[in-house]
Amino acid sequence: RCTMNTLLVLAAVLLATPARGQDLSGAKTLSVVPQTEAQLKELIKLFDAGQYDFWREPRDMGMSVDIMATASQVQELTAALERSGLKPQVKVDDVAQMVMRQNSGVYSRGARSLDWEDYHDSYTVSRQPTRLDGFTCHASSLPCPQINRWMAQLASDHPDLCTLETVGKSYEGRPMNLLTVGKGGADKPGIFIDGGIHAREWISPATVTFLVNQLVTNSSAHDDLLSSVNFYFMPVINPDGYDYSFTDDRLWRKTRSEPASPGGCSGADANRNWDFHWMEAGTSNDSCVDNYGGSAPFSEVEMQVVRDQLTRLRNTTKVYLTFHSYGQKWMYPWGYTAALPEDWQDLDRLARDAVGALKAVHGTRYQVGSSTRTIYAASGGSDDWAKGVAGIKYCYTVELRDLGTHYFTLPPSLIIPSGQETFAALKVIANFVKKTY
Ligand code: ARG
Ligand code: ZN
Repeated sequence: RCTMNTLLVLAAVLLATPARGQDLSGAKTLSVVPQTEAQLKELIKLFDAGQYDFWREPRDMGMSVDIMATASQVQELTAALERSGLKPQVKVDDVAQMVMRQNSGVYSRGARSLDWEDYHDSYTVSRQPTRLDGFTCHASSLPCPQINRWMAQLASDHPDLCTLETVGKSYEGRPMNLLTVGKGGADKPGIFIDGGIHAREWISPATVTFLVNQLVTNSSAHDDLLSSVNFYFMPVINPDGYDYSFTDDRLWRKTRSEPASPGGCSGADANRNWDFHWMEAGTSNDSCVDNYGGSAPFSEVEMQVVRDQLTRLRNTTKVYLTFHSYGQKWMYPWGYTAALPEDWQDLDRLARDAVGALKAVHGTRYQVGSSTRTIYAASGGSDDWAKGVAGIKYCYTVELRDLGTHYFTLPPSLIIPSGQETFAALKVIANFVKKTY
């Protein structure tokens, strides 16, 4: 009986543990609303210190700020907030539970090909995947609906439209693929689209693959676009981090490179690692912090791979889109400064047209503006580099759904609606490119 009880307890513990890595049991999110300038300043100080994971950053007085705190941080954080006269409210009482709820659907149906009713990982490398019941697909002989495998199949089914190239390898050896969709020849104007730069933002690769699928499997509806514009897709540009968020730590953000110095932590924030005003704002040189900019500009091999493709394609590429979550924002440079690029009005106009079409699909509202002015200053981002160095005119960072109800764990049932509305925005942009260039 004793053994039986022990087994039951063990099973319960295993099931209740969302993932290895970060321990989420007892983690909560606390929300506060700064009412005075002093309180706002205190929150910004806390945000800059990088000790806590801010899920909604301090911006203005009267605007709610959400902070995730692990069990061991809750007391200390509550005390710190109360010292500033803030009244923390618990918004998500059980982060572990929230993560579990989303994960329960993943792979559970043993899908044979990629679909947009669940989230899918990138590519399984040899290390022995274990974890939750929901992830058994890794370990078993079931054909896992991995993104890379799906892309290869799609490209071979549609050779008239698709060119698939492996353009590099991640730190841990995952292939990084570029899928070109179009039938116009290489000199046509291009739109470059990437996703998955931040591991835990799962709606990003899901939406990007949805866009690919729409263009390719419904190509007759988009014939005019496909013959005048080339689409370049890289759905998961931080594949190690992305897969790690499936197997080990659902809330992982960075890459998975080894610490550059002893005692450091793994990985860097891939969107602080680009060589344009690197390390100037909204970034840390502490490797254990989520927005660590890396040991040097382009220290992360995955970003070198994307940089090289953007460089190769820069003369024809007119638009660069990079998908994140969450917040529902369509943002343009600069991210390193509050100043605006001199052609900002052109970028603003196209963004407004795009989000207008997006809203018409399901009523979802997106905010438009420069990323510094819309969220916060953060340098070393891919969007700033694409504009400032590669010279691509229309660069956007898109924060997909939602506004902070589900944070990074957007329910799988919202993948398709997100994909549909984002596709409407992409069509506006593609039509603009077609008629302008
Ligand atoms: N949430 C994104 C990030 O933190 C926004 C990036 C906007 N672009 C920028 N260059 N700061 O990476
Ligand atoms: Zn992001």
